[in-house]
Amino acid sequence: MQVRSAVIPAAGLGTRFLPATKAVPKELFPIGDQPALQIVIDEALGAGIDHIVVVSSRDKPAIADYFERDDKLIAALDDAGKTDVADRLRAIGKDWRATVVYQDEPRGLGHAVGCAREAVGDEPFAVMLPDELMGSSALLAQMNGVCSSTGGSVVAVVNVPREEVSSYGVIDPAGELTADGVIPVKDLVEKPDPDDAPSNFILTGRYVLTPDAWTEIAALRPGRAGELQLTDALRAQAARSPFHAVVSDVSRHDTGNPLGFLIATIELGLVNPDLRGPLAEFLAELKH
Ligand code: UTP
Repeated sequence: MQVRSAVIPAAGLGTRFLPATKAVPKELFPIGDQPALQIVIDEALGAGIDHIVVVSSRDKPAIADYFERDDKLIAALDDAGKTDVADRLRAIGKDWRATVVYQDEPRGLGHAVGCAREAVGDEPFAVMLPDELMGSSALLAQMNGVCSSTGGSVVAVVNVPREEVSSYGVIDPAGELTADGVIPVKDLVEKPDPDDAPSNFILTGRYVLTPDAWTEIAALRPGRAGELQLTDALRAQAARSPFHAVVSDVSRHDTGNPLGFLIATIELGLVNPDLRGPLAEFLAELKH
């Protein structure tokens, strides 16, 4: 069954980017000429998804504004002969649907995803953390395929050195990694001690969940840091249904902190046809 909806949680406080996030949501920070949010949306569209559900906060009205069509601006750009820019604005929400829902308080990722329940309905859906940018839609497309062939939820993972696992959610494999990079999962552990970690595969911001996840999310109780943790809902699913991880081999950028954001801006600038020439020249000069 084709996954049609992607939930993008974007209601967090963005404390690591204060004071910038006091006025501008980090999800709208530009990577080149695109807001990070649009890059994640394009990844979803490339995997066949046509309904984007953004979980926002009433304190971040700029997110809903991004999806509002601005006919006056489009007409002014057309009149000025800037049809290419006008076309980019026209493309927002064309051939796909955006729904903005609200989380009243940042009570954790599990709670944020739960706010999208009505908008998504009773069907499999993707969850995409906008702090992580993937180089292509291939990972999400593969995850959709694994969800449909196994009938269970799927998470994306990357293999990291053992000493790094303690900052992340880690999967507990139930079997061997296949040639396609798929691993059956029996449990997940949040931020384990490296010595006790069940694997070196950490969760990486992309999920494809079967609709029974809604029941698990609704039943969540405050966990680590008093928040409703999505990982706890996934653990409940893994304990009783088929559950798999797909090992990502697409390039990945963590834009959730200032250094990661800066690196992503440069790396993605270097693959942007309009920017890569002058940017590479500038970087080469910096080395001297
Ligand atoms: P993060 O923890 O990375 O984002 O959550 P944050 O809380 O905004 O950032 P810091 O840690 O304070 O700097 C991952 C994603 O989940 C969303 C965030 O907006 C971010 O996109 N999120 C998190 C919610 O929508 N609601 C929450 O309650 C928590």
